[in-house]
Parts: sequence; structure tokens; C-alpha cells
Amino acid sequence: MPKDALTPQPPRSLTRHPELLEAAVYEREIGAPIARVWENVFDWEHLPWLHDQAFESIELLEAGEWGWHGDVGFPGGASSEIELSVDHEASCYVARTRSGLGAPGEIWTYLKSSSEDTTSIRVEFWVPPLPEGTADEVLGKIGEAYLKLYAGLWDQDEEMMQQRIVASDRRVETGAADSGEIVSLGAVEALREKLPLVVDFAGHPFRLVDIEGELLAHATECPHWLGPLESCEVKRGEIICPWHGYRFDVATGGSTDERRLRLRRAPRVEVDPATGNVRLVSST
Ligand code: FES
Ligand SMILES: [Fe+2]
Repeated sequence: MPKDALTPQPPRSLTRHPELLEAAVYEREIGAPIARVWENVFDWEHLPWLHDQAFESIELLEAGEWGWHGDVGFPGGASSEIELSVDHEASCYVARTRSGLGAPGEIWTYLKSSSEDTTSIRVEFWVPPLPEGTADEVLGKIGEAYLKLYAGLWDQDEEMMQQRIVASDRRVETGAADSGEIVSLGAVEALREKLPLVVDFAGHPFRLVDIEGELLAHATECPHWLGPLESCEVKRGEIICPWHGYRFDVATGGSTDERRLRLRRAPRVEVDPATGNVRLVSST
């Protein structure tokens, strides 16, 4: 379901289910401002892409200022209906498993700005009561598994937020491209050996690739959230952004998933038939 078509729903109550057991608490400092962390919380789309080791799919059912609600698939075939609700005043949110794997567990996350560039987080993992007779250490093991999982998820989120900040700053500094720029890249044989290769053109990074013998350049910054495209595998002339899975045609720069986005216009790659030298020329 497209994000824009979603109707905001009334806020959910943020009351914890009284029978849940606290399995673990995870605390850390995130190297990103709290506004970026909140942006990440609402970004349901990244789960099966950035965190593909933990999530296989997500189907959004509804979303609004209160949070979001969707069906999440996990590697191996299990699934859960998850509702993430935000208490803006208390600076916290809860991810509730409404049905499926882990129901009716709750994960409570508290955010606190610790500096202009950092945010403290506290994550509490509350799980359903264990069957009678279950050894105490089972709860500890579940807690350990959550701590390990969340350390990895937050590492990936932190890296994405930091890369997004760098990419946003670069965009502001660079401004409009110079349409007269020409960049020489030397002999075509030597260049082919270095492919794929990221080069700077008019202040922006582009990656040179060989598609069935043709040299092409494409922008390495995703037009959605500035995700990194420089390491994407090119398959049948298409690349897939690692942050949210948006797809682009390398030759045209246009969306191949009907999203109607477009990569930054890439320079033309020209090979001089007389000298065999390659140069990038502005295509505007
Ligand atoms: S940054 Fe979202 S799909 Fe690329
Ligand atoms: Fe995440």
C-alpha cells in the first residue's frame, strides 16, 4: 500500500499487557540525532531490506502519526502481525506482536536526546508467560537472543542514519552540476580492468559499469532517501537499493518498479574511436 494513501488512525493506548515478563533490557548510545532516530522508527519499509537477516517481508496495513501496523514475514516462513505505536510526549514507542510468532510480546523503546548528534536508547523486551515448569534460564536465553538481535539491528540502523546524514550534507554542499564538465579516464582497456569504478563528475559520484559490452555511468545516490548504490549488483541492467529495495534501470536512471523516481542524470561515457581513450561528458 503506498504511504500517501494511508489514513491516520486514532492513537493506540500505550499500556503494557499485565502478564508479560521482562526478558532483557538493551541500552546504548546511537550516533545520530533524535530526529533521525524517529525517522527510522516510522520507516517500516526498510525492515526486509536493511535487516534482511531478520525480516523477509512486510505488508503495511495502516500508518499515521501514531505509528504503523503491518504483517511481517521472517526467514524460514513464520510471520507476525506487528503494531508499532508512538507516545510522542513520553518519547517512547512500543512494537506489539498482535498475532503470530511472539504474540502477545511487546518491545518498548525509550529515546532521549543525549547531544545534538547522539541519542540514548533503552529497549525493554517483554515476552508472554512461559509454560508452567519452564526452567528460569529459558527466560534468560530468550533475553540473550533479543540482545544479540537488537545489537545487530541498531548497528545497521545507526550506519544507515549516519550515511544518510553524510549524503544530505554532501547534497547541500555540492549544489547544481556544471553542464560543461569533461572528465578523462584514460585508455579503455585499462579502464575496463578497474570496473566497476566510482568516479566523481561535477561534484557527484557515479559508478561506471560494463553492461553487455557497453560502458555506462549511473548515480550512486538513491533518489528516495539517498541510499548507497555504489555496491549494488547489476542484474539484467537493473540495480536494487539496499535500504528499501527500490529498483532502477542503469541505462536510463528511471524506476523499474513503477515508482516514477529517477537517478541523478549521469554523464555520457564516450570512447574515442581513434585513440581508445574514454571520457565522461555532461549529458545535459
Ligand atoms: S534510499 Fe530508500 S530505496 Fe534507496
Ligand atoms: Fe531498523
